Amino acid sequence: MDDIIVSIDIGTSKVCTLIGKVNNANNIEIIGSGIAPCNGVKKGIIVDVESTSRSIMESVRNAESEAGMKVGSAYINIIGMHIDVIRNKSWLNMSSDNREITRKDVDRLLQEVCYVDLTEDKQIIDVVPHQFIIDGYDEIMDPIGMMGVKLEVEADIIAGKITSVRNIVRSVEKAGLKIDGLIAEAYASGHILLTPEEKEMGTILIDVGGGVTNVAVFKNKRLVFYDSIPVGGDHITNDISIGLKIPYSESEKIKRQYELALSSLIKNDQLITVSDINDNKRKSIRISEVIEVIEARVYEIFLLCKNLVQESGISIDSGMNVVLTGGGISYVDGNWQLAEEVFELPARVASFKAVNLEKPEYAVAAGMIMYISSMYSREKSGSTISEQKVDKTEKKTGLLDKIIEFFRRLF
Ligand SMILES: Nc1ncnc2c1ncn2[C@@H]1O[C@H](COP(=O)(O)OP(=O)(O)OP(=O)(O)O)[C@@H](O)[C@H]1O
Ligand SMILES: [Mg+2]
Repeated sequence: MDDIIVSIDIGTSKVCTLIGKVNNANNIEIIGSGIAPCNGVKKGIIVDVESTSRSIMESVRNAESEAGMKVGSAYINIIGMHIDVIRNKSWLNMSSDNREITRKDVDRLLQEVCYVDLTEDKQIIDVVPHQFIIDGYDEIMDPIGMMGVKLEVEADIIAGKITSVRNIVRSVEKAGLKIDGLIAEAYASGHILLTPEEKEMGTILIDVGGGVTNVAVFKNKRLVFYDSIPVGGDHITNDISIGLKIPYSESEKIKRQYELALSSLIKNDQLITVSDINDNKRKSIRISEVIEVIEARVYEIFLLCKNLVQESGISIDSGMNVVLTGGGISYVDGNWQLAEEVFELPARVASFKAVNLEKPEYAVAAGMIMYISSMYSREKSGSTISEQKVDKTEKKTGLLDKIIEFFRRLF
């Protein structure tokens, strides 16, 4: 039977919802999509739960009407600034007589691997097994049903900041939805936008959104760094507005009209007329004046990303590359050239068309569906759809239910 997975990407500028149908062969068909502007999130932080929940409701309604079904639960993204990714290992000896590994053994091991030291303001929100090892044989993704004496796991433990997670849970539940899981955004975008070779060799994935830029580093197939800086595409608009004294909305229009971040790519440095912020009179400026402002800010964003990675102790070596995504950077020409200059590495813009997406805005939500169906395919971790009367909430490890309950108790 087909499984339904619903993903919601809550961003600074918009909320995206996708409804995906996953068949037995693990093929995904997107049957509903919805987008709604979001004003309740500032610099990646939910500052207005009411308003954010209204945006969630609107985007879910849009997706529901396209898919012709009602959504009961969904997976939600969470960005780098709200989480820590902690690597841990654990093992256990098989107790059963025939030494066949059962779901119970795996659950016990996953509970075990979650014992990590956390500060008081953090709580575990997910555990991502990287590999299981049975009697020394590694790279096993699904050990259930296999035979062995010693079962080991290497996993990423995702610890969320309690205040941030609480506001996400509140906003989603106020919108009338249950949470299937909180997905660290980098796993989803890394899954959909990067090649396995890139993840192996080392890639810096930079997602420039509206108010936040997320930086994820993958190396040896693993997420080794994930953080955010509170600067994004909206700051580019703000710089144009303040620097050239043009109203904000007009600055946004100009930015989207020329879609350029590199002065050397200007073909015709024409004069354009714009409003003045002070007296509302029209005035003339050169396009190059706008592009120089954009270039300076984009350059600075990349530099901040580079510093962030280096300060964490991750070495940026020559075999790596840079991949760019997010509305704040995807559209402007000159983007990868500037990234190459700053990082001194090859850079490319993630191609959303290659993964059959109409708009780059849906990359995170689509990545979440693909990531979830690949990670948890055997657990049948679909979302609930009220019309189908499917309630699969029991199928998860039980850990998630405890996590959500923890945050609910804090309200
Ligand atoms: N055609 C365009 N040219 C230039 N910039 C654009 C264009 N379209 C959108 N943007 C910019 O993209 C940014 C929004 O990007 P995105 O949709 O990825 O953000 P988000 O996911 O909602 O926010 P965040 O990830 O920061 O929480 C805005 O700053 C917007 O101005
Ligand atoms: Mg985003």
